Amino acid sequence: MISHLALYDVVGTPGVAADLAHIDTPARVTAHTGDAELGAALAGAALVVIPAGVPRKPGMTRDDLFNINAGIVATLAQGVARYCPLALVAIISNPVNSTVPIAAEILKAAGVFDPRKLFGVTTLDVVRARAFVAEAAGVEAGAVDLPVVGGHAGVTILPLISQAKPRVGLPLATVAALTARIQDAGTEVVTAKAGKGSATLSMAYAAARFANSCLVALAGGEGVVECAYVACSDAPAGAPFFARRVSLGPSGIAASLPLGPLSSPEISGLDALAGELAASIDKGAEFGRAWVAKQGG
Ligand code: LMR
Repeated sequence: MISHLALYDVVGTPGVAADLAHIDTPARVTAHTGDAELGAALAGAALVVIPAGVPRKPGMTRDDLFNINAGIVATLAQGVARYCPLALVAIISNPVNSTVPIAAEILKAAGVFDPRKLFGVTTLDVVRARAFVAEAAGVEAGAVDLPVVGGHAGVTILPLISQAKPRVGLPLATVAALTARIQDAGTEVVTAKAGKGSATLSMAYAAARFANSCLVALAGGEGVVECAYVACSDAPAGAPFFARRVSLGPSGIAASLPLGPLSSPEISGLDALAGELAASIDKGAEFGRAWVAKQGG
């Protein structure tokens, strides 16, 4: 699906490009390094995937990354506004609950915000939920599908195990333990890596799945549905951004799908996530507005 893969970083891009260029696909790979080459990296892009920034160390929350990653995402969002304002933008950089609202403010200030085209990538939460629930149910991984809604940090990650297809019929205590494990799965990796970063390989797998879905939808493919953290006007508790199932089309989000019937622990989970999600969104939006003001509008 990729004709041109343009890589951008502040350092080390040519090595990654040389490595990727040896893969036998038709994709042309180019390397771009530093501010002066951001425009060349973004020009003509249909999909921009942003994994930039620093990862967590043990003991850190995703929000502890805010001070470093917020400015990086703001700069890249400004690049998108200038050089490829029609592109779909998929943000992986943490804290996703705040970095997506930051990007939205930058795009709004530039007059190019299209809520159908901005995504926080939460696919790894779905991948983990599918893996853990299948394991607990004793079925093959990949045989179970379920939505994960809310956001992408701790209790804001809400797997809807009651909607698993096929139905898994697990005891309530198992469902509670699985929910907690899915919510803490990023921390499980951070702890296991013991200071050497956070999930990279499962994240790459999840991001590739999400990016591929975007490209299939952009090319007119039908029936593409993914969970993603997106702007919405009808989310629970009025949250302006919420992870949910969306169907994708050639212009980005074609429709946000209803949450569907929730179990009573899931309703409690929704209540529990509302405060933290709202605070993370406000923090990101305020940073974005201040960043725009500092750049002189
Ligand atoms: C993850 O979910 O693995 C990523 O968001 C990285 C992290 O810090 O947990």
